[in-house]
Amino acid sequence: MLSSSPLFLVAALAAVQSFTLVTASADAPTITPAPSPTVAKRQVAGGSGTPILSTLKYAYTDLPYQVYPYQVLRGPQFGFNQCNATTLGDSSNCQTLVFNGPDDFCLWGSPDASGLIGNVEAKVVAYCTKPYHGTRVIPPGSISGLQWTKTSGYIQVVGYIKNAGLGLDPSDQGGELDPHGADLQGNPLGGVVYSNGTTDSDGHTLTQIYNWNTFVGGNKFCFKACYNSVSSPDYCENRYDLVGCDYNMPSSAQDGQFTSCDGDVQDVVGVYSVNGQSTSSL
Ligand SMILES: *[C@@H]1O[C@H](CO)[C@@H](O)[C@H](O)[C@H]1NC(C)=O
Ligand SMILES: *[C@@H]1O[C@H](CO)[C@@H](O)[C@H](O)[C@H]1NC(C)=O
Repeated sequence: MLSSSPLFLVAALAAVQSFTLVTASADAPTITPAPSPTVAKRQVAGGSGTPILSTLKYAYTDLPYQVYPYQVLRGPQFGFNQCNATTLGDSSNCQTLVFNGPDDFCLWGSPDASGLIGNVEAKVVAYCTKPYHGTRVIPPGSISGLQWTKTSGYIQVVGYIKNAGLGLDPSDQGGELDPHGADLQGNPLGGVVYSNGTTDSDGHTLTQIYNWNTFVGGNKFCFKACYNSVSSPDYCENRYDLVGCDYNMPSSAQDGQFTSCDGDVQDVVGVYSVNGQSTSSL
């Protein structure tokens, strides 16, 4: 979400213009420029030295130690992106998330014991089902059911996981993470996602996913990895980030069941088709 206000811009331009007009006349009185607006403009990445996270693109084998080492806004990132056998384990701060298939994927979790997602969203680290990716490993038994769905636009997983399996406090009802964030540095900052299962990959090569969206907490999780080749509509839109998996990633995941299937694409988030008619609620 961006909040730079067009009204503010118009007001600022108008102020500059009238100032110029007055000083252009020879015997103009000295005037005091209007005070700066007191409403702080929210800062976003995108200027020189502050790249927008979702525009940083790397081959998996070419990742730098940190993709977001910049000391700007909320930066630099907390962890790192070169993850391998030497970084595997309970204290790994790897922020490269692999999303291959129903038995080999990672989720973002807390680097601190009993973290609250709202407090750690900028620094979450990868927790994976397998010890293959230089990350923390989700303790066996933590995931009690999931539905993995591959479509022509994205791969989605929805499931049940004990909060503790991701380092989260048992009371945490959860939150949303994506590579944008209010300042476009992403949550987590410097978090990058790769898969060998999307249509952008040849089936073997870990290929970067630029657009993704996930919720963790409340003993549930969901993650949607959108294909780079499908830019419109945006199935990974994160407009409704307060309403969780049930609204954003409808599924038939059941606790106690593990399923994997091909599926049709859903409507974009916030739109539902009822008897062929599109509708939106909220
Ligand atoms: C493994 O990861 C560490 C920490 O990110 C990095 O310093 C090291 O160069 C990596 N090793 C290899 C062989 O890539
Ligand atoms: C791709 O992902 C599958 C499923 O996780 C895995 O079995 C396979 O080893 C991966 N292939 C490569 C080359 O990484």
